[in-house]
Amino acid sequence: MNASAGGYRIIENARLDARNSFGVPARAPLLVEVTRSEALPDLFASAMPRGAKPLVLGGGSNLLFAGDPAGVVLALVSGGIQTLRTDGDASIVRADAGVIWHDFVLWTLGRGLCGLENLALIPGTVGAAPIQNIGAYGVEVREHVHVVEAFDRERGDFVRLDADACAFAYRDSLFKHAPDRYIVNAVGFRLPHACAPRLGYAGLAEELQAMGVEGTPRASQVAEAVIRIRRRKLPDPAVLGNAGSFFKNPIVPLAQAEALLTEHPGLPVFRGSDADSRKLSAAWLIDQCGWKGHREGDAGVSATHALVLVNHGHASGLQLLDLARRIAASVQERFGVAIEPEPRIVGATW
Ligand code: EPU
Repeated sequence: MNASAGGYRIIENARLDARNSFGVPARAPLLVEVTRSEALPDLFASAMPRGAKPLVLGGGSNLLFAGDPAGVVLALVSGGIQTLRTDGDASIVRADAGVIWHDFVLWTLGRGLCGLENLALIPGTVGAAPIQNIGAYGVEVREHVHVVEAFDRERGDFVRLDADACAFAYRDSLFKHAPDRYIVNAVGFRLPHACAPRLGYAGLAEELQAMGVEGTPRASQVAEAVIRIRRRKLPDPAVLGNAGSFFKNPIVPLAQAEALLTEHPGLPVFRGSDADSRKLSAAWLIDQCGWKGHREGDAGVSATHALVLVNHGHASGLQLLDLARRIAASVQERFGVAIEPEPRIVGATW
């Protein structure tokens, strides 16, 4: 049954199979598609069941339905982009939560704006980007977030949070810790007009060289290099269901990283959040445990990247979760390192 009201649409018993990039079956008792975020206060004040804690769905590319969501699912589908103003040597650009992230990156590059080129082709929406502070090829989105606009359910009103207030960290933010409080409805970015390419991440400079780019690359060329690397390494969710990296790279104390390196000199180790910690490559740890390309029925691990769990067709979320738990247990047993999922797990606890 469908019901319409100003700014949103309610769908009962909605299938979510096509709304999650793993492509696993799931149903929502109530799906609310919000076409105008201005409708949120009215929606919560009148149409939403009392005390409802809706699951907010972006592109569905960073979650695993291990079961059906218990309550209301909210999808923000508004999709406008505007340049608000010029601020010195940069532009302030605002995009609605429902805009597809990669479309937004292309839009900014097409207008000569820089900063997001290393984040090309990340699946998902603009609204989801600050929640897990998306990052790739040495850049995190927090570096370019000017303001996050969100509906604050506690106050019943919209708030504007600057980057400091968002408490960004590696694949983390305030929004992950208060999932029932804030609903991101738009993000403002500060994007410089002059580009300072960031090519330090392994493989990026080599890719540009292979493309025949000489001298300082343009932002659009960096984006093209990133797209080429991602297409080669990461399976396309439209072809093979997946949610990108399934595990976060674990952050461990410096002493533990050094001890592991002595025993395993090939282990890639990156800068941690401070001088006393280091980030380890979860992909390498999983790969060493022999999981890459592993398949059990339709649940498996990508043959091109050990960090990516894949659905070969008809895997259930629970099957994928079960596989993920065994992968983590084997890494724990072999290396003494706990790895944790990056996507949100719905309908089960990790
Ligand atoms: N590696 C292996 N086996 C593999 C894949 C990688 O041993 O199958 C090792 C290699 O030594 C490689 C290292 O792991 O040099 C790092 O691999 P990669 O450059 O692919 O990066 P990652 O740490 O596995 C992170 C992000 C990705 C992001 C890439 C590129 C996380 C959890 N993942 O992956 O983000 O695209 O860096 O910047 O931080 C995502 O979050 O969904 C995602 C795909």
